[in-house]
Amino acid sequence: MATFRSFDQRLTAVGGAEVPADAITGVTVTATHRRRGLLTRMMTRDLTAAKDRGDVVATLIAAEYPIYGRYGFGPATWATEWTIDVPRTGLDPRRSGQDEAGGGRIDLVDGEDVRKLGPDLHARVRAAQPGAVSRDELWWRLNTGVVRYEASWTEPFYAVYRSPEGEVEALAAYTVDDNWHDKQPHNTVSVKWLIGSAPAAERALWRYLCSIDWVTKVKSGWRAPDDLLPFFLPDPRAARITWQADWLWVRILDVVRALEARTYEGEGSLVLEVTDRAGLAGGRWRLEASPQGGSCTPTTQSAELTLDVGELAALWLGDESAVRLAALGRVREERAGAGRLADALLRTSRRPWCPDMF
Ligand SMILES: CC(C)(COP(=O)(O)OP(=O)(O)OC[C@H]1O[C@@H](n2cnc3c(N)ncnc32)[C@H](O)[C@@H]1OP(=O)(O)O)[C@@H](O)C(=O)NCCC(=O)NCCS
Repeated sequence: MATFRSFDQRLTAVGGAEVPADAITGVTVTATHRRRGLLTRMMTRDLTAAKDRGDVVATLIAAEYPIYGRYGFGPATWATEWTIDVPRTGLDPRRSGQDEAGGGRIDLVDGEDVRKLGPDLHARVRAAQPGAVSRDELWWRLNTGVVRYEASWTEPFYAVYRSPEGEVEALAAYTVDDNWHDKQPHNTVSVKWLIGSAPAAERALWRYLCSIDWVTKVKSGWRAPDDLLPFFLPDPRAARITWQADWLWVRILDVVRALEARTYEGEGSLVLEVTDRAGLAGGRWRLEASPQGGSCTPTTQSAELTLDVGELAALWLGDESAVRLAALGRVREERAGAGRLADALLRTSRRPWCPDMF
């Protein structure tokens, strides 16, 4: 009749600390039993249990935008896919990907190598990437074909980039189709995932992918909306945005621990009135923020900004703007300028990104 799964996850907050998260997935209600309150019952039970366990947030990737706001989730990261028109990149087709590696080297490896090399690299990437989530052993086994939920599995290519010092700094998994017509190649590389611990390493892999013979298009998969990818190419216009949408949704279960887990872009204090119709996380707090961290204490002072817990989730990882939400009527400035102050404290210079689907 219905399915609903949740599992333990770690989510990186702004500044690099990780918080325990209740990751929700596999939500379905059969067509014969929809609209009878089953999802609401399963969600209420799961979120209450997660709060009791001490999880700071719940997370999910929403199949449809309109479903989860009612449960206090807000879109906290976005994702963008680019399609690169390889002949327009301005890259010299006579140069190989190896020539583009800036003294490092690129090798093709197999799934077993990925399971050995991937977790360490991913741990470094995740610690530096607000919005990134943990990958357990099952993730690596599923994503290298050891465990298969579906009958059809196409073994991807795996490319690893090592720095001139020999350190593994980027990994990519991608597939290539086989599409020739009119005696011309029209092959597309589809990136399943690509992670790097340094911009130079990511640049090397993207330029490698654009240098594979017969490949005329590279589809990037879901990247951060401010990914450097277009600017790794001599002509950034060769990378066209093919879709952009909300990605990781966050439900804050513990406002104090969520706000104290992160660092802030500036120094200041703000009184927030957080409403939560589920009664899990509402209240009024004074946030004292600084680049070193934050402290958040209950207060009876007048609120400067009133917002729903879902809007706080959209602000928490630094992506959304309180000024924008105020313009939409979704947060209320109780004191003129409170939205700008919230943005100066909470917004980050680079956008958060969740590299995974779960
Ligand atoms: C989406 C889905 C899980 C909802 O389950 P459900 O048991 O019918 O939901 P409920 O009866 O508990 O409804 C809860 C509320 O969500 C609303 N709702 C349900 N499905 C919705 C949808 N697709 N879009 C917008 N609102 C929806 C209901 O109208 C209800 O609103 P209310 O609280 O204002 O009365 C179910 O329709 C489904 O399985 N859909 C296909 C698979 C899917 O999309 N899964 C989500 C994966 S992330």
